[in-house]
Amino acid sequence: MDRINIEKIQNDNNRLKFHLMPPKGWMNDPNGLCQLNGTYHVFFQYSPDDPKGGGDRGWGHYVSSDLINWRYVGMPVRPDNILDKDGSYSGSAFLKDGKMYIYYTGNVKEEGEHDYTYSGRQANTIMLISRDGYNFTKKQCVLDAKDYPDYYTCHIRDPKVWCQDGEYYMIQGGRLNGRKKAEFIDCQKQRNSGGLSDADKEKILRDNDDKGSVLIFESSDLIEWKICNEVTVGEDFGYMWECPDYFEVDGHKLLSLSPQGLPGLKYMYQNVYQSGHFDVKGEITGKAELENFREWDMGFDFYAPQTFEDESGRRIIIGWAGIGDIEYDNIPTIEEGWQHTLTVPRNITIQNGRVCQWPVKELEKLRDREVVISGDMTAELEGKTADIVVNNIADKEIKTLIYCGDKESGIQLSYKDNVLSMEFVGKKGMAIGRGRDIRQFPVERLDDMRILIDNSIVEVYINGGEYVMTTRYYMTEKNLGIVFESSSSDKSVFDNTKVWQMKNMEVQYE
Ligand code: FRU
Repeated sequence: MDRINIEKIQNDNNRLKFHLMPPKGWMNDPNGLCQLNGTYHVFFQYSPDDPKGGGDRGWGHYVSSDLINWRYVGMPVRPDNILDKDGSYSGSAFLKDGKMYIYYTGNVKEEGEHDYTYSGRQANTIMLISRDGYNFTKKQCVLDAKDYPDYYTCHIRDPKVWCQDGEYYMIQGGRLNGRKKAEFIDCQKQRNSGGLSDADKEKILRDNDDKGSVLIFESSDLIEWKICNEVTVGEDFGYMWECPDYFEVDGHKLLSLSPQGLPGLKYMYQNVYQSGHFDVKGEITGKAELENFREWDMGFDFYAPQTFEDESGRRIIIGWAGIGDIEYDNIPTIEEGWQHTLTVPRNITIQNGRVCQWPVKELEKLRDREVVISGDMTAELEGKTADIVVNNIADKEIKTLIYCGDKESGIQLSYKDNVLSMEFVGKKGMAIGRGRDIRQFPVERLDDMRILIDNSIVEVYINGGEYVMTTRYYMTEKNLGIVFESSSSDKSVFDNTKVWQMKNMEVQYE
């Protein structure tokens, strides 16, 4: 690694203390999450040579035995083959008999005049095997264009594998070609009953919007795969579905997706691209209905999450605390030679029928000294990290401001008229948010809030993690403060509020 560059990056005040970042350059999706023989593996989309994501894109690799002490161990997957020459894109890890099977998308752009959506792009599904989690076999292509239905565009990617009733299944995200919609519907119908009439095909063909869908492949040996199902929704729900993940939590079947192309609404789908989960009714490998899409995170910076089950049986999700093609930016870190981070690992549970996320308990070991909240309801931090628990809200209207300097500008979290908002406020607000402004959504009743602050990222967990909001922010001052305010005459709201400073996670670089 380039020494000077790395030293400059390590000294950047916006570097994070308990989130995984790229050692240098650019990071996006978490990949290959798993725990093998006690060791957690977090791979990630990595472009080490360009903080804006240019240059070679492969997989970076962190390992840990406890989710708080980490080691960066290099880039085991690089775009060094004709199968993935334009990027070793996202994928997953599947564990079997003590071995790690990696599946990912080899992105190839063909020479010539192409739009790379309808022509000119190959998406090879590549497999690697490892006995130790560090050394991998040679790349083997297990699926390519001839194995995908031809009514899809070139966008098929991001394999995730699981085992169900002794069979192996792989889910991939796809973009149905609107110009070939009739063939798709015909094929769906053929699977269930007869096909479409020519007149029906004609009618459908006139409507040529692309459509997000997932493809499911099956295998009995993890090597030979063939398509066995496709699942989408009837209504318009985006033109492309990226990074699918299918899993069960407490008997609830969930399909996680990152759809692109949902129109933004006041309280939903406020970012350029979304990610969330559907309830799966029926069988994802057979006849399935997708219902009740809920976003994983209501903040400004969250996309392409992946989950895994660890050895203790927890279902853990990690997201990319970033999104492509955003209208706001992260220029302060780009100028220092790096961009983006992952969220903390969050434990997924079902509480009162709702999918909830909560920072893994290991992070509580990083809690340091407690900060006293002064008479004017202010907590002054030394530095810019904190873990804050507000748990006595009992549906009262509240406001908390994370500020730097003048107690006027910063990130305001407020609950009023049953709407929860995160807003960059004050004279410096938009500068701190780098263009981020407001995200808000209705909450029926507010009970508690946990706020993780880490130098240039905030993650807010609402009602035990029923909602989460993640955002980056950029404050140049050395220390932060928090002001707690309630419009209620009952001042007990913040009685049990606790504020801890946070210790650094240990991260070793090679
Ligand atoms: C999601 C994504 C994936 C793709 C990867 C490339 O952010 O677009 O669909 O595999 O990033 O880095």
